[in-house]
Amino acid sequence: MKVIEAIKNRRSVRLYSGKKVSEVKLKRVLEAGRLAPSARNIQEWKFVVVRDKEILRKLSVAANNQEFIGRADSVIVGCSEITDYVMRCGQTAYPIDVAIAMTQMTIQAVEEGLGTCWIGSFYEDQVKRILNIPAKVRIVQMLTLGYPEEKPEPRPRKDFDEVFYFNEWKEF
Ligand SMILES: Cc1cc2nc3c(=O)[nH]c(=O)nc-3n(C[C@H](O)[C@H](O)[C@H](O)COP(=O)(O)O)c2cc1C
Repeated sequence: MKVIEAIKNRRSVRLYSGKKVSEVKLKRVLEAGRLAPSARNIQEWKFVVVRDKEILRKLSVAANNQEFIGRADSVIVGCSEITDYVMRCGQTAYPIDVAIAMTQMTIQAVEEGLGTCWIGSFYEDQVKRILNIPAKVRIVQMLTLGYPEEKPEPRPRKDFDEVFYFNEWKEF
């Protein structure tokens, strides 16, 4: 599959078939994240991969009762151990780095015939408690993973000209 096809075919999948994802497929998805770039190549990410049904159910409660999370094959919890590195540009590196790695996972998931959904609506303190994540670690996002039981229509995106300026900023 061409990269652009995987990008175009990705959807947020919130309905999963229940079919088990093989270790081989899961590892290829995770590997796509491990190979991601990061600021100063710091690779400050840690990922907790949850496949236990009872823990998945608890995560769904901690994620604002989004029940579909409990029906995913896996949830990948994207964390960072190093949270104090600020780049020269003033941006904190870790949420950017972790999100890049997770984005690469979402694209590899498409290649594997799997669906994902980003989960940002969760209570960090509750997820930390469920997974025994130390206080100093921050959770950036979670990602559900599994065989899709739906192919949602593409969500609308802004037009090209609304998003890209060439050579200078333009106020309309
Ligand atoms: C950072 C982030 C957090 C998100 N959090 C949630 C969430 O908690 N629950 C959910 O159902 N979808 C969540 N989404 C999915 C978005 O709603 C979805 O990506 C958006 O509507 C575009 O649809 P698409 O992914 O199918 O293209 C999140 C997406 C991103 C990028």
